[in-house]
Amino acid sequence: MHERRTGLATRVALVTTLAAAVAVLIAGLLSGLLVRAATQSTGRNTLKQYANLAVAAAESAKTGRTEVPARISTLLRPLNIRVLVVQPDGRVTGPAGAVAATGTVKSGEIAALAAGRNVSDTSKIGGGNYYVEGRPITSGPGAGGGIVLLQKVTVARAAERSIGLRLLVALAAGLVVAALTGLLLARRLARPLQHAAGAARRLSTGARDVRLVPEGPAEVAAVADALNALSSALATSEGRQREFLLSISHELRTPLTAVKGYAEALSDGVVPPAAVEATGQILLAESSRLERLVSDLLDLARLGAQDFRIDVASVDLVTLVNQAALVWSDRCAREGVLFGLEVPSTPVIVQSDPTRLRQIVDGLAENALRVTPAGRPIVFAVSASPYEAVLQVRDGGPGLTPDDCRVAFDRSALYDRYRGVRRVGTGVGLALVAGLAGRLGGRAAAGRSPEGGAAFTISLPRAIPG
Ligand SMILES: Nc1ncnc2c1ncn2[C@@H]1O[C@H](COP(=O)(O)OP(=O)(O)OP(=O)(O)O)[C@@H](O)[C@H]1O
Ligand SMILES: [Mg+2]
Repeated sequence: MHERRTGLATRVALVTTLAAAVAVLIAGLLSGLLVRAATQSTGRNTLKQYANLAVAAAESAKTGRTEVPARISTLLRPLNIRVLVVQPDGRVTGPAGAVAATGTVKSGEIAALAAGRNVSDTSKIGGGNYYVEGRPITSGPGAGGGIVLLQKVTVARAAERSIGLRLLVALAAGLVVAALTGLLLARRLARPLQHAAGAARRLSTGARDVRLVPEGPAEVAAVADALNALSSALATSEGRQREFLLSISHELRTPLTAVKGYAEALSDGVVPPAAVEATGQILLAESSRLERLVSDLLDLARLGAQDFRIDVASVDLVTLVNQAALVWSDRCAREGVLFGLEVPSTPVIVQSDPTRLRQIVDGLAENALRVTPAGRPIVFAVSASPYEAVLQVRDGGPGLTPDDCRVAFDRSALYDRYRGVRRVGTGVGLALVAGLAGRLGGRAAAGRSPEGGAAFTISLPRAIPG
């Protein structure tokens, strides 16, 4: 059982929402600070301009008293701005001349105004914070006094709250949009992957007609392509396996039928005594064929296994090929095929398994002899470089096309192509040759021979001198 994991869509959506939330938080903080600074300075600046206006009006008053004209204070009242007048003697009065509460304007501020300086302050008055803007009166009957405007900070900065609220709504909307976009994007990303997982599951349950349309980003589309390739590779390899089993059963049945027929004839006593020896020879040949096929199959099956036996020894390839040549030159002579040998005069030593090497030479020679007509050559050749020893079996038979050479070592590939066209065996030999060469640390290649037929080349790593 797999542990339950969070889906890609949920994760991507979470990550994008988180990123958006962080961005929104930073943007909110920064713009909050900016809004605060802006409203603070506009609130204060407006009050400054009203103070300038009020002092100009007081200076031009024709009443002979130090006061702010009623129309100015009426104008400022709805804005919650209190207007106070500092008389030249230091008393603080309201716009209409009434004495204001003590402490509304600090003595330091009164002194500053008397000295002809502007006052710009924030004061705590009766539990609330106030902006204080004072201007000295420099001409007219009030000269030596001043005008002071007071406005509650919260009133001056009322705009801050409403802007802040709108900002918050905008940021929240941004967050929602980011989260939704993340979710949509994640769904789009996850869908093709879910398709791919479904396809892989169908493959594992045996379906082979699995085809995915590559969609989504390049990496996800690559998964679909890979699964399509896997599906066709599985279908091809299973097809080959079926064909191989069919051909093997066929090859087993032929000698078995012969063996059974002759055995029945012997047990029924229908074989005349003079023919018993010949019948025995046929039985022997057929059972040898069976034995060889079964042992080839076993070798092929075991090639991939760890316990496949290889007995490595110092082998002289020249001696090995000379010994094989004794047998094969004989067999060639019997079929009228010309046998040739190309070996160097000095030994070519490799660290390898002589029995397996001989198995390779015999397999290749068997094939060559089967297809080479009388009068044409078969050549065994050995050559060597300091790093590599090369063993070749060449023939003057019908040869192989370049495409044949590409698949020559795939189990039963050529056998399938040439069954019914040329004489064939069971389709195991070349796969076994390539597998053995690989297990011995070398490789096998197929090509054309200078004799006009096929050339099979086995390259083996050289024993390191010294
Ligand atoms: N030297 C060659 N020239 C032309 N065709 C060849 C040659 N060697 C092999 N082939 C073709 O390749 C096929 C496969 O060879 P392979 O040795 O794998 O199987 P086989 O000889 O048919 O059977 P087995 O070796 O198992 O008895 C042969 O049937 C033959 O058609
Ligand atoms: Mg063969």
